[in-house]
Order: sequence, then structure tokens, then C-alpha cells
Amino acid sequence: MPPDMPLGLRPVLGIESSCDETAAAVLDGNGRVLAALVASQEAEHAPFGGVVPEIAARAHLALLPDLVRRVMASAGLGYGDLGGVAATTGPGLIGGLVVGSLLGRGIALAAGLPFVAMNHLEAHALTARLPGLVSAEGAPFPYLLLLISGGHCQLLAVEGVGRYVRLGGTVDDAAGEAFDKVAKLLGLGWPGGPLLERLAASGDPARFAFPRPMLGRAGCDFSFSGLKTAVAQTVARFGTGALPVALAADIAAGFQRAVAEVLADRVSHAMALFARREGAPVAGARLLVVAGGVAANGAIRAALAAVAGTHGFRLAAPPPALCTDNAVMVAWAGIERLRLGLTDRLDAPPRPRWPLAELAGAA
Ligand code: KG4
Ligand code: ZN
Repeated sequence: MPPDMPLGLRPVLGIESSCDETAAAVLDGNGRVLAALVASQEAEHAPFGGVVPEIAARAHLALLPDLVRRVMASAGLGYGDLGGVAATTGPGLIGGLVVGSLLGRGIALAAGLPFVAMNHLEAHALTARLPGLVSAEGAPFPYLLLLISGGHCQLLAVEGVGRYVRLGGTVDDAAGEAFDKVAKLLGLGWPGGPLLERLAASGDPARFAFPRPMLGRAGCDFSFSGLKTAVAQTVARFGTGALPVALAADIAAGFQRAVAEVLADRVSHAMALFARREGAPVAGARLLVVAGGVAANGAIRAALAAVAGTHGFRLAAPPPALCTDNAVMVAWAGIERLRLGLTDRLDAPPRPRWPLAELAGAA
């Protein structure tokens, strides 16, 4: 790194530890990924059928320092070469947030670098702006974002860095949470989403008429707990033993179709709202970005692509590795903030609850 390179053009280190992925990444000032690693804790949590906060905190503590050393070594950089450090500071599980944000702050303090206390939802929201992902120069503002993961289920109008308008969200479970709970009912492992999708491939989605919560209702909110209860009641009808595979596949397919239809319906309402709010696009079609682990689901992507097409939107989904929790998105959102001079104090506390509406943004 040339010693006289301005701070704003230098690489940025990103750290993610808000749930059960321990991740670190270094991006150059233009958003090119120089090194990125994710250590999944799936094996530690799987025996419990979900994320155990204390196990997650200990795993972050054990894994993160070495992960950061390894991405820096693989990028061929020392801390003095960086232009800033961004670490997820909320929302999420407090143990992991403390580990990651304190490590990030420590590095920033020791190397005299600007620090960005990153909001995890903002990092997901800005991923589509990484150059080369959705288009060569990244998604232009504004765009509509559907964030569907194990912990989040939200529709946002992304208008600028720090400027997010929440159009709707779940009133109970997140979409991924519903997948995980139904997978558990069907005797599959954890996380259940990918296993349920595989099973659903051989099932008949029309055999069971599961409810479509919120379908056709005004607004853009979601609800999945009634659907999950309906699946539980159906499973209970067949007794307490293991279900025959063909039956489980039909239930999985019926559930997945119900989720896909509900998501498509809520998104169609959001697209109408977005179009009214933002007006005509400057060029080309409006953009619907889908992110979060559930965005990996083929049936859901297909339903979203179809509904986007009928509303004059183009569906864009970052590759799965950038849809699920990762540190590339944290470093990139950090670069966006650093470019605008939006840095944070080193005493910014971790925030387990941190709605996007409370973010400090660009004017
Ligand atoms: O974004 P993510 O890795 O972590 C957070 O929750 O933040 O999302 C994980 C969630 C889990 O609930 C998982 O079951 C779900 O995404 N998921 C899927 C699929 N792959 C992952 N759900 C449905 N179909 C999939 N193929
Ligand atoms: Zn996430």
C-alpha cells in the first residue's frame, strides 16, 4: 500500500458476529473483495435445533481473532494499511455483538483508524450496491428490498445510505423461522430451510390447502405463525410417529407454496407503494432486491420474479453467499458510510435492538 494513499481509498475491514456466523472480510476502496471468510457455527447449534446465544457468544470469542488475522494475511495487509474498520454493532445477540464490535474498536483505536458501528440490517440493505453484483456500478438508489432470513422479514424502500423507509414487516415469525419450525415438525434437521426445499421438490403442493396469512390484506405486513400452526395440526392428524416421506414431501411442498404466494402478494403491495412514493425510474426498470437466507429458495425466487415482472420491476438477488450473513456486506456498507464521512465514536455501545429508522444517515 503506498504510504501516501488517502484514507478514503484504502481497504476496509468488516466484522460480522451478530448471530451464528463469525465472519471477517477486507474490501479495497472500490468494493473489490480482497479476502473474506465465514466460520459457520451450524454444527454447534444443530443439536439444539436453533441458535443458542451463549454458545454463539463463546464461538465468536474463540473464532473471530484468528479469522481477522487470516483475512488480513490473505489480503497481504497490515492494520496500518486500512482506511477504516466496520463492525456489526446491532441488532442481534448481545454476546456476539460485544465480541465483534469490541474487537473492531480495538483495532481502530490501536491503528488510529475511523470506526463504523454498523447496523446489520443496513449492511444487508446496501449489499446490492456492491459494484458488479446487480450491475457494473451497483444498484442505484432508490430500490425496493425484501429481506427474508431466520431473524428478519421486512420490506424497505432503500433511498440512500441511512435512509430506509420500512413499508412492512412480520407481525410474528420471520419467514426463515417458519421454515425452520415446519422442518422440525417434519423431523428434518436444522437449519431446516434448505432441507425442506429439497424434500418439497418431490411433493404435491396442491394436496394440502394451507392458509395464506395476510393474502390480499392492505399494506405490506407478513404473518407466518397461523400457517405454522396449520401445518402442526395437519402433522398431528397423522399420529406421533415419523411421517412417510411422500406425505412429508406433500406437506413441505404445500407449506413452501403458501409462503411463496404470501411473499409475492405482500411484495406486490409494496411495489405499488414504492412506485407511488418514488415516481418513475430515471432509467430502466425499477429494482426489487431480495436478500437473506430464504432468498436462496428456488420456488420463492420464481414467485418473486413473476410478480416483479407484472409490476415493471426487475428482480435482483445477490449470490447466496452474500444473501446470508457475511462480512463482505459489512465492509461494503462501511465503505459507503466512510465515503460520506459517517463515522462513529469508539464508545458507541452494542445495540441488540436497533431499528433502521433510528439510524443516523446522510442528509
Ligand atoms: O440470512 P441467514 O443466513 O441468517 C439469518 O437468519 O440472519 O438466514 C438463515 C435462514 C434460516 O432460517 C434458513 O432455514 C433459511 O434462511 N434458509 C432457507 C433456505 N436456505 C436458508 N429457507 C428456505 N429455503 C432455502 N433454500
Ligand atoms: Zn442477517
